[in-house]
Amino acid sequence: MNKIKSILVASLGLTIGLMSCDSGNIRRTPGHIYAPDMTYSRAYDAYTSNPNFEDSMTSRLPVSGTIARGHQLPDHLKEGDTTAYKSFSTSMKFSAAELKEGGRLFNIYCGICHGQNLDGQGPLYSSGKFASMPANFKDAKYLHMPVGQMYAAVKYGKNMMGSYASQLDAKQRWMVIAYIKQTQSKNGGDAFAFGEADAPAKTDTAGAAKPLAAVDSKK
Ligand code: HEC
Repeated sequence: MNKIKSILVASLGLTIGLMSCDSGNIRRTPGHIYAPDMTYSRAYDAYTSNPNFEDSMTSRLPVSGTIARGHQLPDHLKEGDTTAYKSFSTSMKFSAAELKEGGRLFNIYCGICHGQNLDGQGPLYSSGKFASMPANFKDAKYLHMPVGQMYAAVKYGKNMMGSYASQLDAKQRWMVIAYIKQTQSKNGGDAFAFGEADAPAKTDTAGAAKPLAAVDSKK
């Protein structure tokens, strides 16, 4: 009896197995569809033609003047739109630990050109292999540069400097800028407005440094 059972099971398995092979034909149809809503999306796929819009494009640009959640600059703001980003700022404040992190990021991403001393004499420039002089943040020209303009340079790049938008998220960009501003404030720049400046990091009762997330949830 057991033998018959296993023969039956085996032949059933074989039949299903053979049925699922499609003797060499390349199938272009999904066969039976049990849940058409799941097989065929009702939403328009990106890049497909869309009859609902005049230009028939499914992928839309953000509505002009709007700011995406979690972003600070309107998406339509373009490189070169200097008046708009000069007046742009942030309410973020940073602890000493975060400013240190800003310095670490600066040394990783910016120091190669702008120099770890922020004097524009990074190894890439001083080696003579990079033709364009990076901003010397200790120079009068940059000491009072609006933070929004700096932010735009990091986000969009400027002339020979590329964009760092994909390497640094919004908060990290501000942390780097805060670090630059902190250094500038000690070299004749504006008073430091990003937080504790030279004061020690805020500590809780256990004496641990203030956690990053608690500093400012606003982006
Ligand atoms: C590959 C070299 C290079 C790197 C890396 C680089 N920069 Fe620059 N940066 C430049 C050059 C060159 C300029 C001068 C651009 C100009 O005015 O033509 C500049 C200019 C700037 C300015 C002034 C913008 C303005 O409006 O005049 C800021 C602010 C700045 N950089 C910040 C940064 C920060 C922050 C980083 C790191 C995230 C960084 N840069 C990384 C080369 C670099």
